[in-house]
Amino acid sequence: MPKVKFMTLARFIIEQERLHPEATGELSKLLHDLSLAAKVISLEVNKAGLADILGFTGDINVQGEEIKKLDIFAHRMLFNAMDHGGHLCVMASEEEEDIIHIPSKFRLGKYVLLFDPLDGSSNIDANISIGTIFSIYKRVTPDNCPGTLEDCLQQGVKQIAAGYIVYGSSTIMVYTAGDGVHSFTLDPSFGEFLLSQENIKTPKKGKIYSINEGNYLYWHPGLKKYIKWLQEEDITSERPYTSRYIGSMVADIHRNLLYGGIFMYPADSRNPNGKLRLMYECNPMSFILEKAGGRASNGKKRILEIKPDTLHQRTPIFIGSEEDVKMVEEFMAREEIEFNRA
Ligand code: AHG
Ligand code: MN
Ligand code: MN
Repeated sequence: MPKVKFMTLARFIIEQERLHPEATGELSKLLHDLSLAAKVISLEVNKAGLADILGFTGDINVQGEEIKKLDIFAHRMLFNAMDHGGHLCVMASEEEEDIIHIPSKFRLGKYVLLFDPLDGSSNIDANISIGTIFSIYKRVTPDNCPGTLEDCLQQGVKQIAAGYIVYGSSTIMVYTAGDGVHSFTLDPSFGEFLLSQENIKTPKKGKIYSINEGNYLYWHPGLKKYIKWLQEEDITSERPYTSRYIGSMVADIHRNLLYGGIFMYPADSRNPNGKLRLMYECNPMSFILEKAGGRASNGKKRILEIKPDTLHQRTPIFIGSEEDVKMVEEFMAREEIEFNRA
């Protein structure tokens, strides 16, 4: 019988942990609990059209956006999977204004978890890929007391691990704990994540650009010139580029991670801080892209070095292949304008 490589996420995490004799195994258990929540969310996403789960709850979240039922389902599922493991001291989610305490009946751990339970939720009803994003830090406050906002508001460079799950034509989990970026595909027949790609490296330069061009009118002049430049013909720099925009950050960045290219959600004259959230969207995706050899900036500065002030703050983001991100930074630096940051 041919030897089949059968590497489950659980086995992979244990084998990675063996490379670090100082590891206590807590992070591995945490990642395992996250993967369990991901499986349940995946199941629910797949039956979204069957169950009475489509449509709005009628509530508005802390960002002032309408909440879909699946957002809330995913938020609760993650909380329920993560509150009792003894690995965390505090959590924060896109769907909760304040930090989320670990119930007092459970043991406290040394890690901090921030998450976007469902990303791209406006796409749910149309059966288009959506995702979950997570970011993990070590606490900075003393052990054995509840975690605080200070534990959550750390710079992205301090992340210990980060990952995302894409619920697409298959369900894929991508994570890094600092040593390489790895992807796992969920086998729905027996409910295990199996290693699909180890040590993913993103191309140094791509051919894809992803941006909501409907906002063109409001962009920075340097950005307008950059996008026009991408559309011009030039064989040596492999232009014109191809435009691809799903409207789910996770899915757009996952595709570009594999194929190369750039994803942008810029500031504009109507939204001087852009749209996407630093703590549970931009930081984890930037950590992953950097670990895969890519680059992520707000146009001027590395995303991972931004000092956060609030849990739900937004930031412009340019993320993807190193050469592509550098190029847009250059285009914008040539034009002297600054939107009034709120
Ligand atoms: P969320 O569903 O978590 O609120 O995030 C939606 C985000 C992100 O996934 C996507 O890239 C962006 O919104 C799309 O925004 P536009 O519709 O403005 O292009
Ligand atoms: Mn999101
Ligand atoms: Mn969301």
